[in-house]
Amino acid sequence: MKETLAESDALVDELLAADLIVAGVPMYNFNVPAQFKAYIDNIVRVGRTFGFDRLRVGEPYWPLLAESGKKLVILSSRGDHGYARGERLEHMNHVEPSIRTAFGYIGITDVESVAIEYDEFADERLKTSIAMAERQVDVFVDRLLREWSTREPGAPEPSLAMAR
Ligand SMILES: Cc1cc2nc3c(=O)[nH]c(=O)nc-3n(C[C@H](O)[C@H](O)[C@H](O)COP(=O)(O)O)c2cc1C
Repeated sequence: MKETLAESDALVDELLAADLIVAGVPMYNFNVPAQFKAYIDNIVRVGRTFGFDRLRVGEPYWPLLAESGKKLVILSSRGDHGYARGERLEHMNHVEPSIRTAFGYIGITDVESVAIEYDEFADERLKTSIAMAERQVDVFVDRLLREWSTREPGAPEPSLAMAR
């Protein structure tokens, strides 16, 4: 069992050590690719990222990473367009919602998401979408650097995990 869990242990260790998690997740058939689902299945771990006690009244499951200050950034891309909030295909987008649910379950609720659309059209709309996403990333990074530059004196350097 220990051998089987070694990869999951390593992914959980990486997650626990990270202040910022950057997840590159394209949309495959309205959801996350199978590889990313496997990543989630490896890091949602009883006793390591969430607690479980069947005798606990009311709420037998609880997040272990709540108030850890970790941030998640979801960088996504889609072939079609209209999957954002309030748009025509929002109800078919199970990428960001499922990631937010799984990470929220283990206590990571500070989530930023940026997506590129029109990948399959490869026209001006794709270029505009990429430019808008890059601007969003720049604004986010500026905010993050401001936050990190004002952290407590002597606090450890922020660290990063990348998942794809
Ligand atoms: C197997 C597969 C399924 C896809 N499903 C969707 C989809 O449901 N909706 C969509 O808008 N684009 C879909 N696409 C397009 C991709 O989301 C888009 O091209 C993305 O940028 C691909 O990223 P990648 O090159 O990193 O795989 C799909 C692409 C592949 C290969």
